[in-house]
Amino acid sequence: MILTRSDIDALPSRKRAHFVNSCVGYKSANLIGTKDEHGVSNLAVFSSVIHLGSNPPLLGFILRPRTVIRNTYDNLRSSGVFTVNHISEENYKQAHQTSAKYAPEVSEFESAGLTEEYLNDFDAPFAKESPIKIGCRYINEYYLEENECTLIIGGIEFVQFDESILNDDGWLNLEKSGTAVVSGLDAYSIPALLDRLSYAEPGSEPKSIL
Ligand SMILES: Cc1cc2nc3c(=O)[nH]c(=O)nc-3n(C[C@H](O)[C@H](O)[C@H](O)COP(=O)(O)O)c2cc1C
Repeated sequence: MILTRSDIDALPSRKRAHFVNSCVGYKSANLIGTKDEHGVSNLAVFSSVIHLGSNPPLLGFILRPRTVIRNTYDNLRSSGVFTVNHISEENYKQAHQTSAKYAPEVSEFESAGLTEEYLNDFDAPFAKESPIKIGCRYINEYYLEENECTLIIGGIEFVQFDESILNDDGWLNLEKSGTAVVSGLDAYSIPALLDRLSYAEPGSEPKSIL
């Protein structure tokens, strides 16, 4: 089956969103935590968090058009910080619930049933139930004129996790942490590790290094 650009454009909007959003493959599943000027915490699910580079350690995420109020954006601009918290088998239902349109004065932690936690004197809330938690400082943003979204860039200040998931070579075992992935806008999965492979070089076959 082939769906062309005109077929895709002709789909009803929810169907188009499901289709286009899932055709790129599995995406990371995270909760972004922030706090407003009055101390009200905010938590929302994001599937667009990506690694941008390791030196300096940077991540990015895509924010939908700011034509309506985006609490996450307003809060991270006013406080300068935000947290990224992995979604897992234990918290995916609560995590999904944070995407509901709550009023700014409502904390999604309470409404969705997740526990607000503060670490390392950092001024943004973490989700206690998450197996991997990242404290980020706002660095920059780029407006994407093609679809009116914004790429937010965050600098990683610290990462909190259970020591047992850290490999000697620095790799985090996300199977052990129970980290979930998402496809489309509502399908959560737990991936199974296939293998780890040696550094690829021309003329030699990759070897398993597990
Ligand atoms: C699985 C899933 C993934 C989502 N990913 C994003 C995303 O990458 N960017 C975004 O702006 N909104 C995303 N959303 C929508 C936000 O979670 C939703 O708009 C939320 O209400 C934003 O909260 P805020 O206004 O408090 O920032 C996603 C929703 C779901 C269910």
